[in-house]
Amino acid sequence: MHAPLIAPSILSADFARLGEEVENVLLAGADVIHFDVMDNHYVPNLSFGPMICQALRNHGISADIDVHLMVQPVDSMIEAFAKAGASMISFHPEASLHLDRSIQLIKDAGCKAGLALNPGTPLHVLDCVLDKLDYVLLMSVNPGFGGQSFIDSTLAKIQQLKQRIDQAGLNTRIEVDGGIKTDNIGDVRAAGADMFVAGSAIFNSDDYAGTISKMKNAMKQ
Ligand code: DX5
Ligand code: ZN
Repeated sequence: MHAPLIAPSILSADFARLGEEVENVLLAGADVIHFDVMDNHYVPNLSFGPMICQALRNHGISADIDVHLMVQPVDSMIEAFAKAGASMISFHPEASLHLDRSIQLIKDAGCKAGLALNPGTPLHVLDCVLDKLDYVLLMSVNPGFGGQSFIDSTLAKIQQLKQRIDQAGLNTRIEVDGGIKTDNIGDVRAAGADMFVAGSAIFNSDDYAGTISKMKNAMKQ
């Protein structure tokens, strides 16, 4: 099992002080920066694009940036984000006409490739591509907004996916995104996840380091 990674979603950060917020959360123990890209088309909200990713790199942020594309179409954004400094890029299968091609574009651009599955998207969309993915992002809320409640049926989905990955002898990471807090992260880890996105739980807390260390401790039990 992979070591757990905490990936704060900057969707809940203070955008007026974004560089500082990202620095602080990394100093507080975050492993990866989760970057939620929303286009008001695939999801009913609008966030930020490649220029902001580039601005974080220019600011000196060297941690991995995990770009979660909630956009349609997908392919035109892949190269732009790779050039802007993304380390990992995931997209939603419903948003791409050619799954395999989009995955290949991410890899050709030198990034790790992930597929993001909504709560209502079945695991069988992975059938023909699982072995090509570096990670699968399981949404535990419907995409579009931070601060929603974790959908409990995700736990069984994580277990099923973990079983499939193990049976196939793969090394694919399982990232879970939405509604993760200090009091449910232990269950999400126990189900088989190894990368944990948390937006509001971290950025709405007064003590980023305290919250991240509570999360890490909850996963040891
Ligand atoms: C939702 C985003 C999530 C979200 C997580 O569409 O993909 O990354 O911002 O936020 P919380 O942790 O507040 O649910
Ligand atoms: Zn996300």
